[in-house]
Amino acid sequence: MLKFPENFYWGTATSAYQVEGGIKNNWSMAGKKYDAERACDHYHRFEEDFDLARNMNNNAHRFSIEWARIEPEQEKFDQKEIEHYRKVILALKQRRLEPFVTLYHWTLPAWFAEKGGWLNPDAPKYFERFVEKIVLEYKDLVKFWITLNEPNVYTLNSFLRGVWPPFVKSYFKMNRALGQLVEAHKLAYKKIHEISNQAQAGIATNNVCFKGIIKLFIDYKWNHWFLNKIKNSQDFIGLNYYFTHSLKNSILKNGEINDLGWRIIPEGVYNILMDLKKDNKPIYITENGLADANDTKRAKFIIDHLKCVYKAINEGIDVKGYFHWSLIDNFEWDKGFMPRFGLVEIDYENNLKRIPRPSSEIYTEICKNNAINI
Ligand code: FCB
Repeated sequence: MLKFPENFYWGTATSAYQVEGGIKNNWSMAGKKYDAERACDHYHRFEEDFDLARNMNNNAHRFSIEWARIEPEQEKFDQKEIEHYRKVILALKQRRLEPFVTLYHWTLPAWFAEKGGWLNPDAPKYFERFVEKIVLEYKDLVKFWITLNEPNVYTLNSFLRGVWPPFVKSYFKMNRALGQLVEAHKLAYKKIHEISNQAQAGIATNNVCFKGIIKLFIDYKWNHWFLNKIKNSQDFIGLNYYFTHSLKNSILKNGEINDLGWRIIPEGVYNILMDLKKDNKPIYITENGLADANDTKRAKFIIDHLKCVYKAINEGIDVKGYFHWSLIDNFEWDKGFMPRFGLVEIDYENNLKRIPRPSSEIYTEICKNNAINI
């Protein structure tokens, strides 16, 4: 029996655009491939979905608030949507699920995108104003704030590879956007603490375990640069873990892969956690999961990754929570609905019916016991 620390948070993670449906933003406007349309209709079915999380013995849930809903036109805040998210937060609290609120999970209001998005010199201030509004509204209900989701993945795909809106391909612009996101986080962090004295804030970073010679070249820039820039403006680190890269595993092509061809390497999360020791902050695993439509690998995936997390905790790393990506199947950015990341299947053909996968039973047990039974 591997027992996790007391008061450990167990949950799942989602983001607004990927699950809610009916959102108009820069992404839905980028063409059919990027339009999530009704997604999982979580906007109307959040109570049912939170019941599923509660049934899994979760005690926390990570989700994001869609900026485009709250501020559809510059400085015009939509009170109806503010009330909607209040209901969402209250629905979590009623089920004893601690809300972890992401403020920016990659999608933007059209007006902001039209002004140049993150490349606009005033972008951090626009974000700060949105954050101020949100935190003033929910400060009594929410303790944990995740300002930005994966600034590294976002800027790579949106500004260097040019595969996500706004489809820019420029190393210079990628770095500029990163700098702006650093500023945006710092302003948001300050604002959150000005408004709320119970708040804890940080980002969710996608850290990759690089092995061998490549570690020398990209480890700092990918895994540590952003965290270093904001080191005096974060109360915790949110860690999203999906990848281990080494020249060896691309040559050998052995081991398990998920439905997207991503290699399953649980030890990577241990290595990354050890690398974050020097940052000396509490860590929440804010995402970890796999695309596995047949659910043949998910249960083992969860157990193997959690064993590695446990090992890191035993060696002194202050990990305080684990959020599986994801609660339900959802819209995967430029890959549509094919990848199935949910502990709960969505039957898109059959009125979006929610069907818990067998692996969710294993996760339920782990959350209930606060331990892995081995
Ligand atoms: C992460 C994203 C999340 C989801 C997973 C599979 O990089 O933060 O929204 O798409 O990948």
